[in-house]
Amino acid sequence: MKVDVLLGLQWGDEGKGKVVDVLTPDYDVITRFQGGPNAGHTLEFGNVKHVLHNIPSGIFHEDKINIVGNGVVLDPITFKQELDELKAKGFDITKNLFISKKAHLILPTHRILDAASEASKGKTKIGSTLKGIGPTYMDKTGRNGLRVGDILMNFEQKYENLKKKHIQLLSMYDFEYDITEFENGLFESIEALKQLNLIDSEHEINKYIKKGKKVLAEGAQGTMLDIDFGSYPYVTSSNTITAGACIGMGIAPNKIGEVYGIFKAYCTRVGSGPFPTELFDETGDELRKAGHEFGATTGRPRRCGWIDLVALKYAVMINGVTQLIMTKSDVLSGFKTIKVATAYKINGKIVDEFPFELPDDLEPVYKELPGWNKDLSEISSEDEFPAELKYYIDYLEEELGVPIKIISVGPGRDQTIVRD
Ligand code: GDP
Ligand code: IMO
Ligand code: MG
Repeated sequence: MKVDVLLGLQWGDEGKGKVVDVLTPDYDVITRFQGGPNAGHTLEFGNVKHVLHNIPSGIFHEDKINIVGNGVVLDPITFKQELDELKAKGFDITKNLFISKKAHLILPTHRILDAASEASKGKTKIGSTLKGIGPTYMDKTGRNGLRVGDILMNFEQKYENLKKKHIQLLSMYDFEYDITEFENGLFESIEALKQLNLIDSEHEINKYIKKGKKVLAEGAQGTMLDIDFGSYPYVTSSNTITAGACIGMGIAPNKIGEVYGIFKAYCTRVGSGPFPTELFDETGDELRKAGHEFGATTGRPRRCGWIDLVALKYAVMINGVTQLIMTKSDVLSGFKTIKVATAYKINGKIVDEFPFELPDDLEPVYKELPGWNKDLSEISSEDEFPAELKYYIDYLEEELGVPIKIISVGPGRDQTIVRD
C-alpha cells in the first residue's frame, strides 16, 4: 500500500485536523511528519471541540496507530500537557501513540531564543508562535540538537551542555528572561516521555506499508509557509510539502499515493508576511467573524482575504496534488459576490506565476463570481448545493486542474460532503 498525504495549500489552518479525523476510519496509521506545537489542529465531534498540537489527528479513533514522525519537533513540556488534557477529558490515548526516537526536542532555551530573536527583529518579526520551532530546527541542521532517543541515556548532562551554548547565544540579544519559568516541569515531562512508546518509526512505517496497511501522513502549517517555497522569510522552519513527508517519515518518493491538498474557500494568514488578497475592510471583518478566524494555538486574529489562485496553482504544482478538499464553504454564504484572484499586477505587469517575492504594492487581479445565500451547514448531499456554489466549485476545478473531492460545510465531523 502507498502512503496518502494530506496537507495545507495556503498559510495553514485550512482544516487539516478536521478532515484527517474524518478520513481516519479508512486508514490504519496516521503520522505527523513535520512541524511541532506551532500547529493547532481542531476537530469536533459530539459537540465537543478538541485542539491537537503535537499529537496526530487520528488519535480519537480506537485501534488506529498514531505516529509522531522523525521530522517533527517535540516539546516534552507541552506534549505532556496535551496528553494530560486529553486524559482529563477521558481519553487515555497512550496505547495507540508512538514517537520517533529521531524527532528533535524543543528545549526551554529554544523557546527563549525564539522570543529573543523575534524581539530583536522589531517590525520585521516573523510573527512566530513562540514555541521554539525555528531555533530547534536550526540546532537540527546545525548538528547540535537533541533527539527523543537522547532522553534514554545521560539526558541531564546533554541538556546542560546544550543549554550552556544557548545561554551564550542569548547573551548576544538585549533580552531579559527567567530561565526557571521556562524550565518548569522539564524533567518531570522527560520522565513521562520515557514511559511512552518510543520507536524507530522509519522501520515501523515501512513495515506497515509492506504489510498492506493504509497510512495517512498529516501535514502541519501550509505550503505557503514552507521553508523553501513559502513567502520566505515569513515562513516556518520545515518542509510542509509532499516531499517533506518522505523526509519526515523515512519513506521513498515512490511510496506516495494520493496527495490531498486542502484549502479554505477563501484565505487566511496568521503572523507577519505578504498576503496578496488580504482584505482590510468590512468584508475582511465579516470573513473573520463568520469563520471564527482566531488562531487555534495563539488565539491571534487571523488575517482574512479572498482565495488566491496564483498561490494555489503553485501549491498544487509543488505538492503534486491529486485530490482537492475545500473547507469553510459555509462561511461564504451571504456574500453577494465572491472574488477570486487570478493574477497579480506587479510594476504594471500582469503576473500569473507565483513570483520570487510578493512586493507591498502588488495588486491582485480579481474575477468576480456570484455568491449564494443558502445556509450550507445542515446540508448532507451535493444535490442541495446552490447553483452558485456548484459554479464556484466547477470554476476552481477547471482553473486548478484537479477534482475537488470533499467539501466541508462546518467544523463537525458530519458536516462533510464526499463527492463521487
Ligand atoms: P488546521 O490547523 O488546518 O487543522 O485548522 P485549524 O483547526 O487551525 O483551523 C480551522 C478552523 O476551522 C477550526 O476552528 C475548525 O473547527 C474550523 N473548520 C474546519 N472546517 C470547517 C468548515 O468547513 N466550516 C467551518 N465553519 N469551520 C470549519
Ligand atoms: P497549522 O498546522 C498557521 C505561522 C506563524 C508564523 C510563521 C512561523 O495549525 O496550520 P513558527 O512558530 O512556525 O516559527 O511561526 O508560521 N504558523 C502557522 N500559521 N497555522 C499553523 O499551523 C502555523 N504554524 C506556524 O504564525 O507566521
Ligand atoms: Mg491550525
